[in-house]
Amino acid sequence: LGLLRRVEGYLGEFLSQKSRTREGLPDASFSRSNSSGSIATDEGLFEQPESLASSKVVMEKILWRRSLQLRDKQQAWQESPEGRKMLELRRSLPAYKEKDALLTAISRNQVVIISGETGCGKTTQIPQFILESEIEAVRGAVCSIICTQPRRISAMSVSERVASERGEKLGESVGYKVRLEGMKGRDTRLLFCTTGILLRRLLVDRNLKGVTHVIVDEIHERGMNEDFLLIVLKDLLPRRPELRLILMSATLDSELFSSYFGRAQIIHVPGFTYPVRTHFLEDVLEITGCRLTPYNQIDDYGQEKMWKMSKQAPRKRKSQIASVVEDALKAADFNGPGAILVFMTGWDDINSLKEKLHANPLLGDSSRVLLLACHGSMASSEQRLIFDEPEDGVRKIVLATNIAETSITINDVVFVLDCGKAKETSYDALNNTPCLLPSWISKVSAQQRRGRAGRVQPGECYHLYPRCVYDAFAEYQLPEILRTPLQSLCLQIKSLNLGSISEFLSRALQSPELLAVQNAIEYLKIIGALDENENLTVLGRYLTMLPVEPKLGKMLLVGAILNCLDPVLTIVSGLSVRDPFLTPFDKKDLAEAAKSQFSRDYSDHLALVRAYEGWKVAERDFAGYDYCWKNFLSAQSMKAIDSLRKEFFSLLRDTDLVDANTTTHNAWSYDEHLIRAVICYGLYPGICSVVHNEKSFLLKTMEDGQVLLYSNSVNAREPKIPYPWLVFNEKIKVNSVFLRDSTAVSDSMLLLFGGSFSKGTLDGHLTMLGGYLEFFMKPAIAELYLCLKGELDELIQTK
Ligand code: CDP
Ligand code: MG
Repeated sequence: LGLLRRVEGYLGEFLSQKSRTREGLPDASFSRSNSSGSIATDEGLFEQPESLASSKVVMEKILWRRSLQLRDKQQAWQESPEGRKMLELRRSLPAYKEKDALLTAISRNQVVIISGETGCGKTTQIPQFILESEIEAVRGAVCSIICTQPRRISAMSVSERVASERGEKLGESVGYKVRLEGMKGRDTRLLFCTTGILLRRLLVDRNLKGVTHVIVDEIHERGMNEDFLLIVLKDLLPRRPELRLILMSATLDSELFSSYFGRAQIIHVPGFTYPVRTHFLEDVLEITGCRLTPYNQIDDYGQEKMWKMSKQAPRKRKSQIASVVEDALKAADFNGPGAILVFMTGWDDINSLKEKLHANPLLGDSSRVLLLACHGSMASSEQRLIFDEPEDGVRKIVLATNIAETSITINDVVFVLDCGKAKETSYDALNNTPCLLPSWISKVSAQQRRGRAGRVQPGECYHLYPRCVYDAFAEYQLPEILRTPLQSLCLQIKSLNLGSISEFLSRALQSPELLAVQNAIEYLKIIGALDENENLTVLGRYLTMLPVEPKLGKMLLVGAILNCLDPVLTIVSGLSVRDPFLTPFDKKDLAEAAKSQFSRDYSDHLALVRAYEGWKVAERDFAGYDYCWKNFLSAQSMKAIDSLRKEFFSLLRDTDLVDANTTTHNAWSYDEHLIRAVICYGLYPGICSVVHNEKSFLLKTMEDGQVLLYSNSVNAREPKIPYPWLVFNEKIKVNSVFLRDSTAVSDSMLLLFGGSFSKGTLDGHLTMLGGYLEFFMKPAIAELYLCLKGELDELIQTK
């Protein structure tokens, strides 16, 4: 039986394609048919000659039986008292009323687009309708439905919800998979995963063998991964005519998607929401008896200025948005029961408001308020709390990022506070600089936020900005593919063998600027991932195996080659999670001082390594939390680093760079100069020169001129940096250009490690490096460089 099960798993995928011809699976008589005369009983199975025809019939028989079992199980649940109750609940959702129309459309069309208001039951119901109808049609064992979510937290929470609606535990017919975590069993037929996970599967399985339905959720968000996935799926559809693609959107602008897929059918699920009373800032001020100051223009500080002026008592405020929201929470009149959902810009605002409210509780009593946060990087245990209803007399307040706009629905929300902003990445292609700024949201987002108040009863929404600001909002947000650097995307295109990068991206729903594409290709050439002809180099191929940005992948690979993996694993993991060094607003100096105890060597990256190693030692004595508390470190990030290290290590073991039998990473003792060189190798060409004057030093990059360090960088506290260069992880334009996480490196490190080891493009790198050296006028090192380049030129010519 064990053997059979394995064969079943393997052949199941193969057969599911064959058997999903639209006439349906073989009927009951098929399983008893004995056309080849070879299969009569299960016992007979083991004696059969291994002819393909007979094993195919065996497999079909097994799958048929399995499908019957699944149907019986589903029917039993639906007829049980709990199942009936659950069904009743589900029937009340608007999506349920469209069930038949949806299923008919999906069976008749290869692509269907479904739009419907948030909370109408798209995510939890539609994948389930498909699963149920497949199981009812006795195709349960051969169907395989994948539903992608833009965020980990929604994949996890939705799968749990759907499993419970089916009276099952996670990992039975419903599962999920996100990076580092997953719950999926042999019988999982409906898998919720992040878009990134599906893209990684496409790397090894171009045709999505065995998958019967792909559902791409939240397409209205226009995330880069989703836009990319749509191009890939559009190409895949003709190769897999029986595959069904369902796109789901929370807004009505489905025309764009429909015409992209050759006038695909659109189905709209009419939603129902209770009326929501809307207040803009002027109304809030009126309610609270504040005098209104005329205000007509959008500016970043307008909100704060207006609020301050109207109270005629300006206070010194540190986090503007947290202060505005705090005041509003105290001023607004929340009549009757119901949770309050507050939209903030990001984790730092949420934290800062949380601190304010701890110091100065609402209602004067913290036991009457349940304060929760909801953002993308929270732990799974925290997530569940936001869905629970609080005890009587306790007010639940959820401080959320725009994640609660459409992907997460909290049932008992009656009041919404909308700060009007969201952190948005943008990309300045001309200066090749990414920016991350809280910016005003779009009209559609504001409407979504408002809608969250009217789900269970009439609600109220307080927009904490004036109506004239709302009127000037853009209709929709710019798609991510048009506002972020494209390096990882370009590498993915190459690794999926999708041909010319610019030709491929020109087929996107909305194509990115040519300059942005060229910058990304240029970067990939500089770091040695692509050769002159835009083909993947060996390094590039290795980089695609690692689910991190190319620069971090490079560090891992060279760390493995140079036998100093342990600290490199920590650095790369640390850069992939939320900054573990916390800087609370009111304890900024203390926090920065705590960070500098970890630094003796002008490197944020090495400070991270020390902090992690200290934590690891403390953890052994169960003192990890204390250690984090004392040192202003995030225990959550430390734990995430710990598990990422393991993940990256096992991925590296899958490559041939780390001995497959190794169980420990390289020794803990390491040469710091070597690590510095590895960091330089990874971060190049993120380099800036250190120019000393009498008192301090200036930093300059070739593209931006003078740049600044984030105040929490260990280098920002140094009076002098005895090195000529800093390599940095990231530069972001806020008002000036700021560098985040930097490490000082010497001339020779830059010379030897600033570039790539890849032969084909070595010449190009040296030319580029030469440009840097010349630009910053380092004659001695430039001479050495020319000498080296001369030798290398010769070497390249002779080879
Ligand atoms: O995807 P869409 O926004 O259309 O709605 P959904 O996420 O499928 O949610 C449908 C209903 O299920 C809502 O009433 C949610 O409150 C409820 N739900 C829940 O109770 N718990 C979850 N983890 C997810 C959804
Ligand atoms: Mg949804």
